[in-house]
Amino acid sequence: MAANLYFIGGGNMPTAIIEAVRRKADAYPVDHIYVEEISQERSDYLAATYNTEAATPNSRVDADIVVIAVRPQDDVAGVAKSIADRFDPAKTTVISIVAGYTIAKLEAVLGEQWRVVRIIPNTLTTVDYGYSGASLNAKASKDDVDAFLNTFGKVLYVEERLIDIITGFYPPNIVYHFIDAYVDAGVLAGLPRDIAKAIALDTLIGGTEFLKQKDVLPQVLLNINNSPGGVGITQAYTLNKTGFAAAIQSAVLAAVERTTALGSNSK
Ligand SMILES: NC(=O)c1ccc[n+]([C@@H]2O[C@H](COP(=O)([O-])OP(=O)(O)OC[C@H]3O[C@@H](n4cnc5c(N)ncnc54)[C@H](OP(=O)(O)O)[C@@H]3O)[C@@H](O)[C@H]2O)c1
Repeated sequence: MAANLYFIGGGNMPTAIIEAVRRKADAYPVDHIYVEEISQERSDYLAATYNTEAATPNSRVDADIVVIAVRPQDDVAGVAKSIADRFDPAKTTVISIVAGYTIAKLEAVLGEQWRVVRIIPNTLTTVDYGYSGASLNAKASKDDVDAFLNTFGKVLYVEERLIDIITGFYPPNIVYHFIDAYVDAGVLAGLPRDIAKAIALDTLIGGTEFLKQKDVLPQVLLNINNSPGGVGITQAYTLNKTGFAAAIQSAVLAAVERTTALGSNSK
């Protein structure tokens, strides 16, 4: 049977999800997609582009899944209260994509009779890569959400304590930063930028594919590639001296801490 989806907040992330749901219509049939969004312009854009239906805080619809997709600094508790007032816990599963906002905080407003799933959605939806992290409350089961979540990438069901860590760890931004620096390195050494970019992207994809095929950690391949006194080990020494690994690790830790702080400060 086709599902009804209801999004509260129609920004970048729900838009990527809606786009994926429309694309995967054969695997996950959807009847209606409702979007409750403050900005009229945004709401009109979604309706025109993805055939969604504009909803308001007064809308009462028969939704299988309601997705809370406002920002942590928005009135998340107010949104949860409004869900409790007009949806039916026997029918509707509540999914929150709000970074850092815990299941316990949602249950405190909704009540414990609700099926609640907290996810950190995959942002590489359009290229079919990447994982969403998902955590279920005591009432929810995988069957409530699995078909929906699989429309936008692979899903990892994890304990909730891992969700903030995945939020800080997984966005592709860190890869974009690396490629940016890598392309600039080629240009600094004298390559034209288009050649540096072509080589950098193919090396990244090829290196990743090779690691997957070999099913080993990078250190195994580095030990093979870095011969005594050679070019590879010289490069490794320079990276170590400049704190390359520590820079990446610090950036991820800071992102995880920021996620938790945003959630803790949310209403
Ligand atoms: N973007 C990502 O890559 C990503 C990844 C993982 C998780 N997330 C999470 O996903 C959530 C949404 O992120 P986003 O990037 O889509 O944010 P966004 O583009 O800033 O969109 C948020 C939208 O929600 C609207 N809004 C705020 N309060 C509302 C309410 N009470 N009812 C209806 N609409 C409301 C906002 O309108 P106004 O601007 O007019 O206030 C805005 O259009 C966040 O909690 C974020 O932590 C995002």
